[in-house]
Amino acid sequence: MRSHWSGRLAFILAASGSAVGLGNIWKFPYITGLNGGGAFVLAYLITIAIVGFPIFIAEVFIGQKSQANAVKSFEVIHRPKSPFRFTGIMGIVSAFLILSFYSVVGGWILSFEFRSITGSILSLSSEQMAEQFGNLVGDPLTQIFWHSIFMILTVSIVIGGISKGIEKWSKILMPAFFLILVGMTLYAMTLDGFGQAFAFLFKPDFHKLTGESILEAVGHSFFTLSLGMGAMITYGSYLAKDESVLKISLAVSALDTVVALLAGLMMFSICFTYGQEPSSGPGLMFQTMPTLFSQMAGGQILLIVFFALVTFAALTSAMSLLEVVVTYFDEHWNWPRKRATIVFGSIIWALGILCAMSFGILPFSVFDLFDHLTSRILMPLGGLLTALFLGWVVKRQDIEAICGGSTLAASGLIIISRYVAPIGVLIVLIQGIHDWLLS
Ligand code: TRP
Repeated sequence: MRSHWSGRLAFILAASGSAVGLGNIWKFPYITGLNGGGAFVLAYLITIAIVGFPIFIAEVFIGQKSQANAVKSFEVIHRPKSPFRFTGIMGIVSAFLILSFYSVVGGWILSFEFRSITGSILSLSSEQMAEQFGNLVGDPLTQIFWHSIFMILTVSIVIGGISKGIEKWSKILMPAFFLILVGMTLYAMTLDGFGQAFAFLFKPDFHKLTGESILEAVGHSFFTLSLGMGAMITYGSYLAKDESVLKISLAVSALDTVVALLAGLMMFSICFTYGQEPSSGPGLMFQTMPTLFSQMAGGQILLIVFFALVTFAALTSAMSLLEVVVTYFDEHWNWPRKRATIVFGSIIWALGILCAMSFGILPFSVFDLFDHLTSRILMPLGGLLTALFLGWVVKRQDIEAICGGSTLAASGLIIISRYVAPIGVLIVLIQGIHDWLLS
Protein backbone atom coordinates (compact mmCIF):
# COMPACT_ATOMS: atom_id res chain seq x y z
CA MET A 1 0.00 0.00 0.00
CA ARG A 2 1.38 3.41 -1.05
CA SER A 3 1.61 6.07 1.63
CA HIS A 4 -0.16 9.39 1.14
CA TRP A 5 0.06 12.97 2.33
CA SER A 6 -2.30 13.52 5.23
CA GLY A 7 -4.20 16.10 3.19
CA ARG A 8 -4.11 19.06 0.87
CA LEU A 9 -2.17 21.31 3.21
CA ALA A 10 0.57 18.70 3.65
CA PHE A 11 1.01 18.49 -0.10
CA ILE A 12 1.05 22.25 -0.52
CA LEU A 13 3.71 22.63 2.17
CA ALA A 14 5.88 19.83 0.82
CA ALA A 15 5.54 20.91 -2.81
CA SER A 16 6.16 24.55 -2.03
CA GLY A 17 9.11 23.34 0.04
CA SER A 18 10.46 21.76 -3.12
CA ALA A 19 9.72 24.76 -5.31
CA VAL A 20 10.90 27.43 -2.89
CA GLY A 21 14.64 27.11 -2.72
CA LEU A 22 17.89 28.73 -3.67
CA GLY A 23 16.20 29.58 -6.95
CA ASN A 24 13.92 32.00 -5.12
CA ILE A 25 16.17 33.58 -2.54
CA TRP A 26 19.51 33.45 -4.25
CA LYS A 27 19.07 33.19 -7.99
CA PHE A 28 15.90 35.21 -8.60
CA PRO A 29 17.14 38.34 -6.83
CA TYR A 30 20.54 38.28 -8.48
CA ILE A 31 19.33 37.60 -12.02
CA THR A 32 16.70 40.30 -11.57
CA GLY A 33 19.48 42.62 -10.46
CA LEU A 34 21.63 41.71 -13.45
CA ASN A 35 18.74 42.02 -15.91
CA GLY A 36 17.68 45.46 -14.83
CA GLY A 37 14.60 44.85 -12.65
CA GLY A 38 10.95 45.52 -13.54
CA ALA A 39 10.82 44.45 -17.17
CA PHE A 40 12.55 41.19 -16.32
CA VAL A 41 10.14 40.61 -13.43
CA LEU A 42 7.23 41.10 -15.80
CA ALA A 43 8.72 38.62 -18.30
CA TYR A 44 9.19 36.19 -15.45
CA LEU A 45 5.58 36.55 -14.26
CA ILE A 46 4.26 36.01 -17.76
CA THR A 47 6.37 32.92 -18.37
CA ILE A 48 5.36 31.45 -15.01
CA ALA A 49 1.73 31.90 -16.04
CA ILE A 50 1.92 30.53 -19.58
CA VAL A 51 4.77 28.01 -19.41
CA GLY A 52 5.51 27.10 -15.80
CA PHE A 53 1.99 26.81 -14.44
CA PRO A 54 0.63 24.51 -17.20
CA ILE A 55 3.62 22.17 -16.91
CA PHE A 56 3.23 22.20 -13.15
CA ILE A 57 -0.39 21.08 -13.61
CA ALA A 58 0.78 18.36 -16.01
CA GLU A 59 3.29 16.96 -13.52
CA VAL A 60 0.97 16.91 -10.54
CA PHE A 61 -1.72 15.32 -12.69
CA ILE A 62 0.61 12.62 -14.05
CA GLY A 63 1.68 11.71 -10.53
CA GLN A 64 -1.76 11.80 -9.00
CA LYS A 65 -3.47 9.86 -11.76
CA SER A 66 -0.83 7.12 -12.01
CA GLN A 67 0.10 6.88 -8.31
CA ALA A 68 3.51 5.77 -9.55
CA ASN A 69 7.15 6.91 -9.70
CA ALA A 70 8.46 9.38 -12.27
CA VAL A 71 9.25 6.67 -14.85
CA LYS A 72 6.33 4.28 -14.48
CA SER A 73 3.78 7.09 -14.29
CA PHE A 74 4.14 7.79 -18.02
CA GLU A 75 3.64 4.11 -18.78
CA VAL A 76 0.56 3.84 -16.56
CA ILE A 77 -1.14 6.73 -18.32
CA HIS A 78 0.09 6.03 -21.85
CA ARG A 79 1.06 2.38 -22.32
CA PRO A 80 3.76 -0.04 -21.18
CA LYS A 81 7.17 0.84 -22.66
CA SER A 82 5.85 4.24 -23.72
CA PRO A 83 8.74 6.31 -25.11
CA PHE A 84 7.73 9.04 -22.66
CA ARG A 85 9.24 6.96 -19.87
CA PHE A 86 12.60 8.41 -20.93
CA THR A 87 11.34 11.72 -19.57
CA GLY A 88 11.26 10.02 -16.19
CA ILE A 89 14.65 8.38 -16.63
CA MET A 90 16.19 11.74 -17.53
CA GLY A 91 14.51 13.12 -14.45
CA ILE A 92 16.21 10.56 -12.21
CA VAL A 93 19.57 11.44 -13.76
CA SER A 94 18.87 15.17 -13.29
CA ALA A 95 17.97 14.60 -9.65
CA PHE A 96 21.41 13.06 -9.03
CA LEU A 97 23.21 15.89 -10.78
CA ILE A 98 21.19 18.75 -9.31
CA LEU A 99 21.36 17.48 -5.76
CA SER A 100 25.12 17.00 -5.93
CA PHE A 101 25.82 20.68 -6.60
CA TYR A 102 22.79 21.92 -4.68
CA SER A 103 24.15 20.23 -1.58
CA VAL A 104 27.51 21.95 -2.00
CA VAL A 105 25.73 25.32 -2.02
CA GLY A 106 23.66 24.07 0.94
CA GLY A 107 27.00 23.48 2.65
CA TRP A 108 28.14 27.07 1.95
CA ILE A 109 24.96 28.26 3.61
CA LEU A 110 25.45 26.08 6.67
CA SER A 111 28.99 27.34 6.91
CA PHE A 112 27.80 30.97 6.78
CA GLU A 113 25.15 30.16 9.37
CA PHE A 114 27.88 28.78 11.60
CA ARG A 115 30.04 31.88 11.07
CA SER A 116 27.03 34.07 11.87
CA ILE A 117 26.48 32.24 15.15
CA THR A 118 30.12 32.43 16.18
CA GLY A 119 30.22 36.06 15.03
CA SER A 120 33.29 35.59 12.85
CA ILE A 121 31.68 37.34 9.87
CA LEU A 122 30.51 40.33 11.87
CA SER A 123 31.76 43.78 10.96
CA LEU A 124 33.83 42.78 7.97
CA SER A 125 34.37 45.12 5.06
CA SER A 126 33.02 43.92 1.74
CA GLU A 127 36.55 42.99 0.63
CA GLN A 128 37.02 40.89 3.74
CA MET A 129 33.65 39.22 3.21
CA ALA A 130 34.55 38.43 -0.39
CA GLU A 131 37.74 36.93 0.93
CA GLN A 132 35.79 34.74 3.38
CA PHE A 133 33.70 33.39 0.56
CA GLY A 134 36.68 33.00 -1.75
CA ASN A 135 38.56 31.09 0.91
CA LEU A 136 35.59 28.82 1.48
CA VAL A 137 35.17 27.79 -2.15
CA GLY A 138 38.92 27.45 -2.53
CA ASP A 139 39.15 25.06 0.40
CA PRO A 140 37.81 21.63 -0.55
CA LEU A 141 38.04 20.11 2.93
CA THR A 142 35.89 22.75 4.63
CA GLN A 143 33.43 22.62 1.78
CA ILE A 144 33.25 18.82 1.86
CA PHE A 145 32.70 18.96 5.60
CA TRP A 146 29.65 21.24 5.28
CA HIS A 147 28.40 19.48 2.17
CA SER A 148 28.49 16.22 4.18
CA ILE A 149 26.46 17.74 6.98
CA PHE A 150 23.91 19.00 4.50
CA MET A 151 23.61 15.57 2.85
CA ILE A 152 23.33 13.86 6.24
CA LEU A 153 20.43 16.16 7.14
CA THR A 154 18.72 15.47 3.82
CA VAL A 155 19.17 11.70 4.10
CA SER A 156 17.93 11.61 7.70
CA ILE A 157 14.70 13.32 6.70
CA VAL A 158 14.02 11.32 3.53
CA ILE A 159 14.72 8.03 5.27
CA GLY A 160 11.60 8.59 7.39
CA GLY A 161 9.40 8.37 4.28
CA ILE A 162 6.54 10.57 3.18
CA SER A 163 4.53 11.05 6.35
CA LYS A 164 7.16 10.61 9.05
CA GLY A 165 9.94 12.32 7.12
CA ILE A 166 9.08 14.76 4.37
CA GLU A 167 5.61 15.77 5.53
CA LYS A 168 6.64 16.08 9.14
CA TRP A 169 9.63 18.28 8.35
CA SER A 170 7.86 20.37 5.72
CA LYS A 171 5.23 21.18 8.33
CA ILE A 172 7.93 22.53 10.61
CA LEU A 173 10.37 24.14 8.18
CA MET A 174 7.96 25.83 5.76
CA PRO A 175 5.86 27.75 8.32
CA ALA A 176 9.12 28.83 9.97
CA PHE A 177 10.39 29.91 6.56
CA PHE A 178 7.28 31.99 5.77
CA LEU A 179 7.34 33.59 9.19
CA ILE A 180 10.97 34.66 8.86
CA LEU A 181 10.52 35.91 5.31
CA VAL A 182 7.46 37.99 6.15
CA GLY A 183 9.16 39.30 9.28
CA MET A 184 12.26 40.35 7.38
CA THR A 185 10.18 41.94 4.61
CA LEU A 186 8.22 43.96 7.17
CA TYR A 187 11.51 45.08 8.64
CA ALA A 188 12.78 46.02 5.19
CA MET A 189 9.66 48.13 4.65
CA THR A 190 10.79 50.42 7.44
CA LEU A 191 14.07 51.18 5.64
CA ASP A 192 14.70 54.17 3.41
CA GLY A 193 15.53 52.04 0.39
CA PHE A 194 12.18 50.27 0.31
CA GLY A 195 10.50 52.65 -2.14
CA GLN A 196 13.43 52.39 -4.51
CA ALA A 197 13.41 48.58 -4.26
CA PHE A 198 9.70 48.51 -4.99
CA ALA A 199 10.13 50.68 -8.05
CA PHE A 200 13.11 48.62 -9.19
CA LEU A 201 11.05 45.42 -9.10
CA PHE A 202 7.70 46.66 -10.33
CA LYS A 203 8.35 49.59 -12.64
CA PRO A 204 9.33 48.04 -15.94
CA ASP A 205 11.87 49.78 -18.09
CA PHE A 206 11.49 47.95 -21.37
CA HIS A 207 14.75 49.29 -22.75
CA LYS A 208 16.47 46.92 -20.41
CA LEU A 209 14.68 43.85 -21.72
CA THR A 210 16.82 41.81 -24.10
CA GLY A 211 16.22 38.50 -25.87
CA GLU A 212 18.77 36.99 -23.55
CA SER A 213 16.89 38.11 -20.46
CA ILE A 214 13.61 36.65 -21.76
CA LEU A 215 15.37 33.31 -22.24
CA GLU A 216 16.72 33.60 -18.75
CA ALA A 217 13.16 34.16 -17.47
CA VAL A 218 11.80 31.08 -19.24
CA GLY A 219 14.66 28.91 -18.01
CA HIS A 220 14.26 30.19 -14.50
CA SER A 221 10.52 29.52 -14.45
CA PHE A 222 11.40 25.81 -14.72
CA PHE A 223 14.07 25.80 -12.15
CA THR A 224 12.07 27.70 -9.61
CA LEU A 225 8.99 25.47 -9.87
CA SER A 226 11.15 22.29 -9.75
CA LEU A 227 9.83 21.25 -13.16
CA GLY A 228 11.09 18.91 -15.83
CA MET A 229 12.68 16.28 -13.66
CA GLY A 230 9.95 14.30 -11.98
CA ALA A 231 9.85 16.05 -8.61
CA MET A 232 6.24 17.16 -8.88
CA ILE A 233 5.26 13.84 -10.47
CA THR A 234 6.77 12.06 -7.49
CA TYR A 235 5.11 14.33 -4.92
CA GLY A 236 1.85 14.19 -6.90
CA SER A 237 1.94 10.40 -6.77
CA TYR A 238 1.41 10.55 -3.03
CA LEU A 239 -1.63 12.78 -3.45
CA ALA A 240 -5.11 11.35 -2.92
CA LYS A 241 -7.06 11.02 -6.13
CA ASP A 242 -9.90 13.33 -5.10
CA GLU A 243 -7.74 16.44 -4.55
CA SER A 244 -8.08 19.18 -7.17
CA VAL A 245 -4.90 19.35 -9.26
CA LEU A 246 -5.80 22.82 -10.50
CA LYS A 247 -6.30 24.46 -7.11
CA ILE A 248 -3.25 22.85 -5.60
CA SER A 249 -1.04 23.77 -8.54
CA LEU A 250 -2.28 27.33 -8.39
CA ALA A 251 -1.54 27.55 -4.69
CA VAL A 252 2.02 26.24 -5.02
CA SER A 253 2.96 28.28 -8.09
CA ALA A 254 1.55 31.42 -6.49
CA LEU A 255 3.40 30.81 -3.22
CA ASP A 256 6.64 30.22 -5.06
CA THR A 257 6.24 33.46 -7.01
CA VAL A 258 5.31 35.51 -3.97
CA VAL A 259 8.34 34.18 -2.10
CA ALA A 260 10.68 35.18 -4.93
CA LEU A 261 9.19 38.68 -5.04
CA LEU A 262 9.35 39.15 -1.26
CA ALA A 263 12.93 37.89 -1.15
CA GLY A 264 13.85 40.34 -3.90
CA LEU A 265 12.04 43.19 -2.21
CA MET A 266 13.67 42.48 1.12
CA MET A 267 17.21 42.14 -0.22
CA PHE A 268 17.02 45.12 -2.60
CA SER A 269 15.57 47.39 0.10
CA ILE A 270 18.66 46.69 2.14
CA CYS A 271 20.97 47.15 -0.85
CA PHE A 272 19.46 50.52 -1.79
CA THR A 273 19.38 51.70 1.82
CA TYR A 274 23.13 51.24 2.01
CA GLY A 275 23.83 52.62 -1.44
CA GLN A 276 24.69 49.28 -3.03
CA GLU A 277 23.70 48.30 -6.54
CA PRO A 278 21.56 45.14 -6.74
CA SER A 279 23.52 43.94 -9.74
CA SER A 280 26.36 42.22 -7.94
CA GLY A 281 25.47 38.79 -9.40
CA PRO A 282 25.85 35.46 -7.60
CA GLY A 283 27.82 37.13 -4.80
CA LEU A 284 24.68 38.95 -3.66
CA MET A 285 23.89 36.34 -1.04
CA PHE A 286 27.37 35.47 0.16
CA GLN A 287 29.04 38.88 -0.04
CA THR A 288 26.77 41.88 -0.40
CA MET A 289 24.00 40.75 1.94
CA PRO A 290 26.15 39.52 4.85
CA THR A 291 28.30 42.66 4.67
CA LEU A 292 25.22 44.88 4.84
CA PHE A 293 23.45 42.85 7.54
CA SER A 294 26.45 42.97 9.77
CA GLN A 295 26.47 46.80 9.57
CA MET A 296 22.83 47.07 10.63
CA ALA A 297 21.45 47.31 14.15
CA GLY A 298 21.00 43.78 15.48
CA GLY A 299 23.23 42.59 12.68
CA GLN A 300 24.20 39.28 14.18
CA ILE A 301 20.59 38.28 14.79
CA LEU A 302 19.69 39.31 11.24
CA LEU A 303 22.53 37.22 9.87
CA ILE A 304 21.54 34.16 11.89
CA VAL A 305 17.89 34.50 10.93
CA PHE A 306 18.69 35.15 7.26
CA PHE A 307 20.90 32.10 6.87
CA ALA A 308 18.34 29.98 8.77
CA LEU A 309 15.79 31.13 6.21
CA VAL A 310 18.02 30.06 3.36
CA THR A 311 18.90 26.77 5.06
CA PHE A 312 15.23 25.83 5.42
CA ALA A 313 14.57 26.67 1.79
CA ALA A 314 17.51 24.64 0.54
CA LEU A 315 16.80 21.64 2.75
CA THR A 316 13.14 21.25 1.75
CA SER A 317 14.20 21.36 -1.92
CA ALA A 318 16.99 18.85 -1.40
CA MET A 319 14.53 16.44 0.23
CA SER A 320 12.36 16.38 -2.85
CA LEU A 321 15.32 15.78 -5.15
CA LEU A 322 16.40 12.74 -3.18
CA GLU A 323 12.80 11.51 -2.95
CA VAL A 324 12.56 11.31 -6.76
CA VAL A 325 15.41 8.81 -6.76
CA VAL A 326 14.25 6.92 -3.68
CA THR A 327 10.64 6.49 -4.84
CA TYR A 328 11.90 5.10 -8.14
CA PHE A 329 14.31 2.57 -6.70
CA ASP A 330 11.91 1.63 -3.94
CA GLU A 331 9.09 0.93 -6.38
CA HIS A 332 10.81 -0.20 -9.52
CA TRP A 333 13.67 -2.22 -8.11
CA ASN A 334 12.03 -3.16 -4.83
CA TRP A 335 14.74 -1.65 -2.73
CA PRO A 336 13.76 -0.97 0.87
CA ARG A 337 13.51 2.80 1.37
CA LYS A 338 16.24 2.79 3.96
CA ARG A 339 18.75 1.13 1.69
CA ALA A 340 17.81 3.27 -1.33
CA THR A 341 18.13 6.48 0.69
CA ILE A 342 21.53 5.63 2.12
CA VAL A 343 23.05 4.19 -1.05
CA PHE A 344 21.90 6.99 -3.35
CA GLY A 345 22.50 9.65 -0.76
CA SER A 346 26.10 8.42 -0.66
CA ILE A 347 26.52 8.38 -4.42
CA ILE A 348 25.19 11.92 -4.65
CA TRP A 349 27.47 12.92 -1.80
CA ALA A 350 30.46 11.53 -3.75
CA LEU A 351 29.44 13.44 -6.88
CA GLY A 352 29.13 16.52 -4.70
CA ILE A 353 32.78 16.18 -3.74
CA LEU A 354 33.69 16.68 -7.39
CA CYS A 355 31.51 19.79 -7.41
CA ALA A 356 33.21 21.07 -4.28
CA MET A 357 36.60 20.70 -5.92
CA SER A 358 35.52 22.72 -8.94
CA PHE A 359 36.92 26.03 -7.79
CA GLY A 360 40.58 25.83 -8.54
CA ILE A 361 41.37 22.19 -7.72
CA LEU A 362 40.03 20.27 -10.70
CA PRO A 363 41.11 21.45 -14.15
CA PHE A 364 37.48 22.15 -15.12
CA SER A 365 34.30 22.89 -13.20
CA VAL A 366 32.12 19.85 -12.59
CA PHE A 367 29.85 22.23 -10.70
CA ASP A 368 29.19 24.36 -13.79
CA LEU A 369 28.92 21.27 -15.97
CA PHE A 370 26.15 19.77 -13.82
CA ASP A 371 24.43 23.11 -13.44
CA HIS A 372 24.34 23.88 -17.15
CA LEU A 373 23.55 20.35 -18.21
CA THR A 374 20.50 20.26 -15.94
CA SER A 375 19.12 23.78 -16.07
CA ARG A 376 19.81 24.52 -19.72
CA ILE A 377 19.28 21.07 -21.26
CA LEU A 378 17.81 18.23 -19.19
CA MET A 379 15.13 20.18 -17.32
CA PRO A 380 13.87 22.10 -20.37
CA LEU A 381 13.83 18.84 -22.36
CA GLY A 382 11.93 17.12 -19.56
CA GLY A 383 9.47 20.01 -19.40
CA LEU A 384 9.02 19.99 -23.16
CA LEU A 385 8.18 16.29 -23.19
CA THR A 386 5.86 16.68 -20.20
CA ALA A 387 3.94 19.49 -21.91
CA LEU A 388 3.65 17.42 -25.10
CA PHE A 389 2.49 14.46 -23.05
CA LEU A 390 -0.32 16.49 -21.51
CA GLY A 391 -1.27 18.04 -24.82
CA TRP A 392 -1.14 14.99 -27.09
CA VAL A 393 -1.42 11.86 -24.94
CA VAL A 394 -3.66 12.68 -22.00
CA LYS A 395 -7.34 12.27 -22.89
CA ARG A 396 -9.47 15.34 -23.32
CA GLN A 397 -11.92 14.14 -20.69
CA ASP A 398 -9.09 14.02 -18.14
CA ILE A 399 -8.05 17.55 -19.04
CA GLU A 400 -11.64 18.71 -18.65
CA ALA A 401 -11.72 17.05 -15.25
CA ILE A 402 -8.53 18.93 -14.27
CA CYS A 403 -10.23 22.16 -15.33
CA GLY A 404 -13.26 21.47 -13.16
CA GLY A 405 -15.41 20.55 -16.15
CA SER A 406 -14.89 23.80 -18.07
CA THR A 407 -14.51 22.95 -21.76
CA LEU A 408 -13.18 26.41 -22.50
CA ALA A 409 -10.40 26.14 -19.92
CA ALA A 410 -9.62 22.64 -21.16
CA SER A 411 -9.21 23.88 -24.72
CA GLY A 412 -6.95 26.64 -23.47
CA LEU A 413 -4.80 24.19 -21.53
CA ILE A 414 -4.58 21.89 -24.54
CA ILE A 415 -3.47 24.70 -26.86
CA ILE A 416 -0.90 25.86 -24.36
CA SER A 417 0.50 22.42 -23.73
CA ARG A 418 0.48 21.38 -27.38
CA TYR A 419 2.00 24.52 -28.87
CA VAL A 420 2.72 27.52 -26.68
CA ALA A 421 4.74 25.94 -23.86
CA PRO A 422 6.68 23.56 -26.15
CA ILE A 423 7.71 26.37 -28.49
CA GLY A 424 8.79 28.55 -25.58
CA VAL A 425 10.82 25.74 -24.09
CA LEU A 426 12.27 24.69 -27.42
CA ILE A 427 13.77 28.13 -27.90
CA VAL A 428 15.47 27.94 -24.51
CA LEU A 429 16.68 24.46 -25.28
CA ILE A 430 18.18 25.37 -28.64
CA GLN A 431 19.84 28.40 -27.11
CA GLY A 432 21.15 26.20 -24.28
CA ILE A 433 22.65 23.66 -26.68
CA HIS A 434 24.06 26.46 -28.82
CA ASP A 435 25.80 28.11 -25.84
CA TRP A 436 26.99 24.72 -24.75
CA LEU A 437 28.65 23.96 -28.06
CA LEU A 438 30.25 27.39 -28.13
CA SER A 439 31.78 26.96 -24.69
N1 TRP B 1 13.01 24.77 -7.24
C1 TRP B 1 14.24 24.77 -6.54
C2 TRP B 1 14.66 26.19 -6.26
O1 TRP B 1 13.99 27.11 -6.61
C3 TRP B 1 15.37 24.10 -7.25
C4 TRP B 1 15.03 22.87 -8.00
C5 TRP B 1 15.11 22.70 -9.31
C6 TRP B 1 14.52 21.73 -7.51
N2 TRP B 1 14.67 21.46 -9.65
C7 TRP B 1 14.30 20.86 -8.57
C8 TRP B 1 14.22 21.35 -6.25
C9 TRP B 1 13.75 19.64 -8.39
C10 TRP B 1 13.67 20.13 -6.08
C11 TRP B 1 13.43 19.29 -7.12
O2 TRP B 1 15.70 26.39 -5.69
